[in-house]
Parts: sequence; structure tokens; C-alpha cells
Amino acid sequence: MDKLTIDIQKCNQDSLCAVECPVRIIRLDSLTGYPVPLPDFESSCLKCGHCVTICPTDALSLDWLSPESCRLISEDLRLTPAQAEQFLRSRRSVRSFKNKTVSDRTIEKLLEVACAAPSAKNQQPWHWTVVRSPAEVRQLAEMVIEWMREVSHTDPKKAEASGFVRPIAAWEQGEERICRGAPHVIVAHADKNWIFGPEDSALALSLLDLYATSMGLGACWGGYFYKAVNAYPPLFQALGLPNHHRAFGTLMLGYPKFKYRRIPERRPPRVAWR
Ligand SMILES: Cc1cc2nc3c(=O)[nH]c(=O)nc-3n(C[C@H](O)[C@H](O)[C@H](O)COP(=O)(O)O)c2cc1C
Repeated sequence: MDKLTIDIQKCNQDSLCAVECPVRIIRLDSLTGYPVPLPDFESSCLKCGHCVTICPTDALSLDWLSPESCRLISEDLRLTPAQAEQFLRSRRSVRSFKNKTVSDRTIEKLLEVACAAPSAKNQQPWHWTVVRSPAEVRQLAEMVIEWMREVSHTDPKKAEASGFVRPIAAWEQGEERICRGAPHVIVAHADKNWIFGPEDSALALSLLDLYATSMGLGACWGGYFYKAVNAYPPLFQALGLPNHHRAFGTLMLGYPKFKYRRIPERRPPRVAWR
């Protein structure tokens, strides 16, 4: 049962918890002036933690979240806009990796940060499958090629339009263009019926990609890979995904072999100002 507790020695009745609650299930009691939950608090709470983390006096706790369990936001660690801009604009898709694996602890840390992404209704629907062995990554890449070959035989036009011709030809010449020789692959998957699965997963993977960059790692979306996971049952099974799940994104991960020197221009924003 979700319970909201107010420490009246600390509460300054500023109503921030009520104002910031996205589902408006906290109000200030008209007699006491202290925050109280509405009757549907338990059933409607998104468990986003806004009420606890906005409180400037640490007066509000939930039975599952105390102010003390939430780390403080350090002013010293805030990025300047210039730092943030360079960081965000210099992230690249990395496709050349060192022959070096990433520790489980580091991958766990990446996933913890990825799970801080926004998700519709704060569902946090993600499940992660991490391929730790470079040899297994290669075997899985080969299965993607098998799927591409199958499509090429049954529907050559589709294979051509989907861009399968070149990765197949590269594979036949000994070049692996599916996972690009990355030592690891991370698959984000979720209940196949969750309508925001694609968005929630892309956002989490994007945080993972950015955080990996900050750690000196490199990542790249494996578009062919996760399309193949959903379209080619042997690959789905090889990864051991639950039957009611769908893969919503894949990142290749490893240590970059090379360092970029400059940031490229992108198309300017196509905006309609109204
Ligand atoms: C949904 C998605 C799928 C992608 N699939 C692949 C892929 O299968 N192989 C690959 O090498 N790059 C893939 N990419 C990376 C893009 O090619 C890359 O983001 C783009 O060229 C811009 O380069 P940058 O990320 O370095 O800025 C994918 C990116 C996205 C967003």
C-alpha cells in the first residue's frame, strides 16, 4: 500500500509536492495546511518520486521512497551549456572497436543510468539482454545474415530496398557489418503489447549511448540486428527473449579504436514557427 508521510516539523507548506505531482493526487489540507493524499493516491501514483525529490525540506516520504534514499543533485556537477553542447554534438556511432571487453560492472552501471530515461506513464518497461561474449556476438551477427539471405531468396525486392545486399556481400568477403566486430550487444526488449515500447526503449538506449560516451566507451545502434530479432525466430530464441516480448532496439558496445577530432554539420532544424 502506498503511503505518504509528512514530517510536520520539517514541512513549510509550500505546496510544491501538490503542484508538481503529475497526476495531482496530493492536496494541502484546508484545515492544517499540510499535504494529504487524495483517495485515489494508491491507485493513481506513477511512482515518479517528484513529490519526494522536489521538497526543499525533506519533509515528505513515501513508503517506498525516502528523501535520504535519493541522492542530492550536486551544483558542482552541473554541466555548462557549452560543455553539454560539445558533449551531445560530439557523440558518434562507433563502428571500430578495440579487442577488449567491457566489465559486467560497467555495463550494469550503463544500464542503471539508461533506466533513468523518461517512459510513458513511468512504466520503465525495459528488459535488457546483454551479450557478453564476443564469439557469441559474431554467431548472432551470422544469424542476422542468414535472415537477410532468406529474405533475399523469398523477396529480392524487399531485400534490396532494405539494404541487405551490401551486408551480405561484405560478409561473404569476410567483413562483419552487422555488429561491426563489437565485443558486446545490448538488446532492449519489452512486452510486445506495450504501445510506447519503441519510444521508451529508444530513449533509454539513447541515455545509455551518451553515458557510454562519457565513460570512454563507444556504441552504435544495430538497426538490422533488432529487426532481425523480431523477424527471425531462430535469433529471437537464441537470445532467449520471452515470447510475449519484442526487441525495440539494440546497441553494439565496446571501446572505440579511434578518436574523432571534429564535429560534423547536421541539417539545420526544419521548423515551422507559428
Ligand atoms: C534506429 C537506428 C538504426 C541504426 N542502425 C544501424 C546499423 O544497423 N548499423 C550501423 O552501422 N549504424 C546504424 N545506425 C547508426 C546511424 O547510421 C548513425 O546514427 C548516423 O549515421 C549518424 O551518425 P552518428 O550517430 O555518428 O552521429 C542506426 C541508427 C539508428 C538511430
